[in-house]
Amino acid sequence: MDRVKTGIAGLDELMNGGIPQGSTVVVSGGTGTGKTIFGMQYIYNGAKDFKEPGIFVSLETNLKNIVWNMTSFKWDIKKMQDAKLMKTYRLNLHEPDNEEMVGRKLKEELEVILKMVKELKAKRLVIDSITAIGIWVEKKSTLRSLLYEFTDKLKELNCTTLLTTETSSQKEDLSAFGVEEFVSDGVIALYFSPPNRSLFVRKMRGTNHSRNIHPLEIGEKGLSVKPQDRVMWESIK
Ligand SMILES: Nc1ncnc2c1ncn2[C@@H]1O[C@H](COP(=O)(O)OP(=O)(O)O)[C@@H](O)[C@H]1O
Ligand SMILES: [Mg+2]
Repeated sequence: MDRVKTGIAGLDELMNGGIPQGSTVVVSGGTGTGKTIFGMQYIYNGAKDFKEPGIFVSLETNLKNIVWNMTSFKWDIKKMQDAKLMKTYRLNLHEPDNEEMVGRKLKEELEVILKMVKELKAKRLVIDSITAIGIWVEKKSTLRSLLYEFTDKLKELNCTTLLTTETSSQKEDLSAFGVEEFVSDGVIALYFSPPNRSLFVRKMRGTNHSRNIHPLEIGEKGLSVKPQDRVMWESIK
């Protein structure tokens, strides 16, 4: 089986070498747990270490700021962009004034992303975040079927996709809408109980994986996981 390496130190070995290619993986966590860094690092590592083109789709109004923040890790994102190994895209749902229009607009935007994936021959895609999309779409069944169709097409293109979801601070919570689980092959949960960060591969189809929670750090080079160490569930707040 082909696997896609996150390149995040310590993480791939928790999943027998990486994420099964073509998977759709939800990266969940509360605010400040490191989801955006995780997504950016996945795309950047793919470009730099594996020459696999990737696209980072953001719903944040200030995408430039996010890219700028990542320079604190000394990642040369511009170099990867110039080499056509990396692309960032701001997904904009504007302010459609009714539900039907939001659905149509989202569908259009997903088509644009698919076109970019084909053009760049992207093997990696991140959407940060699905929660922000869900805020616009009231009918969760619409969101679910659009996402299902979308991730299905990405699979056909052998693209391995991360969808971030912002959870409440409750540790059992995986998503804000309960929609994401339906389209995902895997779930990686991030936790932050100050001062401690941790990571848990909660689900990963098609591969064996660690059943333990592991310490997570944000250091000079970004995120890293300690595969040998364990965190007790009880110690997470
Ligand atoms: N250079 C850095 N060194 C250490 N920690 C950092 C650095 N940059 C950001 N962080 C930490 O990462 C957090 C933000 O991570 P982010 O990926 O934006 O979280 P999320 O997307 O889950 O809200 C910050 O609140 C900060 O604690
Ligand atoms: Mg974020």
